[in-house]
Amino acid sequence: MAKNNFIFAVVITVSSTLFFIEAFKNSRNFITRDLSTSQNARGSQLTMMARKPIIAGNWKMNPVDFGEALDLAEKLAASSKTMADDVEFVVIPPHPFLVPVKEKLEGSKIKLGAQNAFTEDKGAYTGAVSTPMLKSVGVEYILAGHSERRTIFKDDDSAVGRKVTKILKDGMTPILCVGELKEEFEEGLVEQVCGLQLSKDLRGVTADEMRKIVIAYEPVWAIGTGLTATPEIAQSVHAFIRKWIEKKYGKEVAEEVRIQYGGSVTPETVDELMACPDIDGALVGGASLAADKFSRIMSYKKL
Ligand code: PGA
Repeated sequence: MAKNNFIFAVVITVSSTLFFIEAFKNSRNFITRDLSTSQNARGSQLTMMARKPIIAGNWKMNPVDFGEALDLAEKLAASSKTMADDVEFVVIPPHPFLVPVKEKLEGSKIKLGAQNAFTEDKGAYTGAVSTPMLKSVGVEYILAGHSERRTIFKDDDSAVGRKVTKILKDGMTPILCVGELKEEFEEGLVEQVCGLQLSKDLRGVTADEMRKIVIAYEPVWAIGTGLTATPEIAQSVHAFIRKWIEKKYGKEVAEEVRIQYGGSVTPETVDELMACPDIDGALVGGASLAADKFSRIMSYKKL
């Protein structure tokens, strides 16, 4: 009798343990992003540290009309109210719209970002905008090294590196964009190109500063082309970037840094991308200009 009771107790204990393990696995997506490699062998190692996903809309030089900008901001502010609290949202309008857009975002879950900044605080720099100016109007994020700045405006790596350092010094978060050209992708040079950009653009950045930086992997061939990188390609480059950070700053820092994917992200592609273990967000261009599309991207489904 005693033996039967013992066997019964063992069976109950084992099955309830298995039940709780299963329940925990199923619920993990609702609690935190799981950084384990269970789904994808190329991901980071097993840890349960949370990285808060970050979805940002880079409006670039759009829209032309002030009224349209306000309308877009108003719609996004309204739709963000019902969205997840465990995701960060940012809109990055052109400079003239920053202040009125910020007013429209008041009370919403969306933060404000800027597309560019110069590295001096003030003075005779016609056409430039400084980091303290941006901070004073409520900007929290600033892009650095976007491929359009690199190619059209000739921002080289040393300028990008100086911007990253200045943005950090003034208490804002740089979103550092890196990524390879189409020819480099075809030649299999993705890791070399991204590694070199990271080395130059993060020169002088300390481990504590690194934790705050957001990296955006943006393959240039995917920007504005409709050619989204497959989740497999994006995940493998993100895993490489995280490894690169680990080698320079250690594992703990590497696991904290958020790495966004950018390049033709749409409502159709966002869910699969966001399901990759090393993809912690999206930097969205074209699709961030339509309130319905960007709202769908902001409320991506956790697969
Ligand atoms: P896209 O732009 O989404 O229009 O490709 C992305 C970006 O340049 O940040």
